[in-house]
Amino acid sequence: MATLADRLPGFPRWVVEQYWIETGRSLATAPAHPLALRRAYRTARALLPQVAHLTGTPSATLDRYLRELRRGGLRREIGVRCPKATGIGSPHAEILYLFVRASRPSVVVETGVHLGVSSAHILQALADNAHGELWSVDLPTVGSGYRVNEDGRIDRAHVASVGETGSAVPERLRSRWHLTLGDAKELLPTLPAPPVWDLFFHDSDHSRAHMLWEFGVAWSRLRDGGLLLSDDVPDNDAFLSFAREVGATPFLWLRRGTIRRGPSRPDAPDAGPPASPPAGRA
Ligand SMILES: C[S@@+](CC[C@H](N)C(=O)[O-])C[C@H]1O[C@@H](n2cnc3c(N)ncnc32)[C@H](O)[C@@H]1O
Repeated sequence: MATLADRLPGFPRWVVEQYWIETGRSLATAPAHPLALRRAYRTARALLPQVAHLTGTPSATLDRYLRELRRGGLRREIGVRCPKATGIGSPHAEILYLFVRASRPSVVVETGVHLGVSSAHILQALADNAHGELWSVDLPTVGSGYRVNEDGRIDRAHVASVGETGSAVPERLRSRWHLTLGDAKELLPTLPAPPVWDLFFHDSDHSRAHMLWEFGVAWSRLRDGGLLLSDDVPDNDAFLSFAREVGATPFLWLRRGTIRRGPSRPDAPDAGPPASPPAGRA
């Protein structure tokens, strides 16, 4: 018999995450506030149609992709390879997978790898498409340290050794992967990837100045119709002000955001208009 999660792909995990983002409360440990839960449910329900709209892919196809990801072994593999990795199979990782799967990019570039959960989901999507390669850049913090960015925010993502960077990525997915270690500020402009990119994902230094700088580099490389994705959008106004500056309509999902370069996408058959849900707590 079909479960609720089967009939409404993405639910209820996406609702739980959205509820946490909007209220700062976990449904697992505190009683639900009915109005907040309803709002989170509505917002989470709008996410799949929004991805459909931006990628021109029917929601039914995205449902199928999501089921394939969940049925596949990636979640278990990452857990075995790297027990301390967090965010495995999270709504953030699933939606990232959907963007890559649905837009069928040839060239994907990401900054910020850490243990490799996002890289693994991007690479799984490329493998499932049987097309495309990923260029990743990371400047690891080695030891039990942390980094304080220019805006004073603390990034606690650290590794025990340099070799731990990206260690969650299964061997079977690595043939499409080019990992370079170093500061994105130095490496991004001269990355040995093809000059035109299809999809860029920022998840490195979330200071406003660095985000704006990365977005500028990526935007100049993205093809018409290419996608720029960013994590931790609520940290500051970099993503929204960049979107405004380039005249792109931002789609905010969970703590992340996506803009599409060039002419807006013709609607997918069942996709709604690009109304953005609230970005949630900073
Ligand atoms: C939040 S973690 C990335 C998490 C990863 N995307 C995931 O979903 O599993 C941020 C990473 O960016 C790296 N980083 C910070 N500043 C950087 C910079 N200037 N250039 C490249 N990487 C940087 C950090 O060392 C850390 O590994």
